[in-house]
Amino acid sequence: MNLSQQSRRRWVWPLAVSLGLLFMTNGCALFEDEQTAKGKKIYRHYCMHCHGESGKQGEGFNWDSLSNMEFPPPKDLSDSSMADSIADEDIFNAISRDMKDTTDQAVIDDIDYFGVATMPTFKYTLSEMEIWMLVRYVRSLHGGDFTFDVEGRRQQLESELESATQTLEAATQALEAAEAKRDAEVEAAEAAAEAAGDEDFEAEEIELPEEEVATQAAIKQNEAKLAFERFAKRPKMTVARPDLTVSDEERVQLEETGKHLYFNKYGCNSCHSIAGEGGLVGPVLDRAGFRLNATWVYKWLMYPQGIKKHTKMPNLGFTDQDARAVTAYLETLRAPKPDKSIAPVVSEE
Ligand code: HEC
Ligand code: HEC
Repeated sequence: MNLSQQSRRRWVWPLAVSLGLLFMTNGCALFEDEQTAKGKKIYRHYCMHCHGESGKQGEGFNWDSLSNMEFPPPKDLSDSSMADSIADEDIFNAISRDMKDTTDQAVIDDIDYFGVATMPTFKYTLSEMEIWMLVRYVRSLHGGDFTFDVEGRRQQLESELESATQTLEAATQALEAAEAKRDAEVEAAEAAAEAAGDEDFEAEEIELPEEEVATQAAIKQNEAKLAFERFAKRPKMTVARPDLTVSDEERVQLEETGKHLYFNKYGCNSCHSIAGEGGLVGPVLDRAGFRLNATWVYKWLMYPQGIKKHTKMPNLGFTDQDARAVTAYLETLRAPKPDKSIAPVVSEE
């Protein structure tokens, strides 16, 4: 081997390695860019009206209505200090959580619970993966690094589902074996009774502990399955037609509860206005009691996406009871007709 060959060898490998690295990091960067771009698209559809195009305060068309409320308006998402002051998981939890009654002292005291009712949840509207894309995009607004291991999270959910499925299979087998054993014992006891001429014999009912174990395993497996599905897919639901008849007494109570929920739990006022106060994202609700049918309103609240797939109104994770109450409250909104009639944004289909 001559000298020039040797020196060639010396740089061929490092070159190949660095080219490979360049390719890999570039591939990663491409993937990251794509995820951020998707996050941006979702942000522009669901978040921009309140947070502004670049996350700056005062930018979104709904900002003024938010800053007029008793709750704090959003922080500046483009502020570089956010990079250190808030973790990826905190941003995730701000976007994906359950709405809680903010007049409840326990909720206010819960330091792990982010948020007031004026920031709606997207937990029931978007997939988990989409919410991580949003987090990535919010990071890009203030120039912070996104470090959460999304693929690791997917794998974790997948392996949790696998192990829950195995546990369920084992529990089902154990139950079947226990049932077979019990049936054999019962049969033997019956045969013995018959042989002894005991005609009144009745086998004792035996409760199998394996039954409860199998039931619990099935519940856990179902939860793991839902969690895994929700990672990649938006939550879907079917809403049964409700029977909304109530006594007059109950109605008064419901209306009051509904009004409370409207302002303090679900923060409907951050997007809708009544009597000139509230947000501008959704239609004015002054005359909702005249314009909208109660059954339709109930279904809309439970699952807006079931009626209008790409509506900007998020599914807020209503319980049946809460949806009944808020529906009853909306029925009371019967302001006189304004001079110019307001066209309904959503028509009954
Ligand atoms: C109806 C208006 C509204 C919409 C729509 C909205 N937000 Fe918010 N957001 C708020 C308000 C108000 C706060 C402040 C709440 C608080 O401080 O308790 C907030 C807070 C936040 C925060 C935490 C920063 C802070 O201020 O403490 C993040 C992150 C965030 N929003 C992201 C989003 C994303 C992403 C979307 C879209 C999926 C979104 N928001 C949609 C109103 C909104
Ligand atoms: C993030 C903003 C947002 C929040 C929060 C929100 N809405 Fe909406 N809402 C909308 C938008 C936007 C529409 C228009 C639907 C469409 O055409 O896609 C709408 C439509 C409606 C309609 C139908 C109105 C009509 O005239 O056709 C009702 C009723 C309604 N919302 C009630 C509520 C209630 C009650 C809450 C609280 C539980 C709430 N909304 C929370 C944005 C919001």
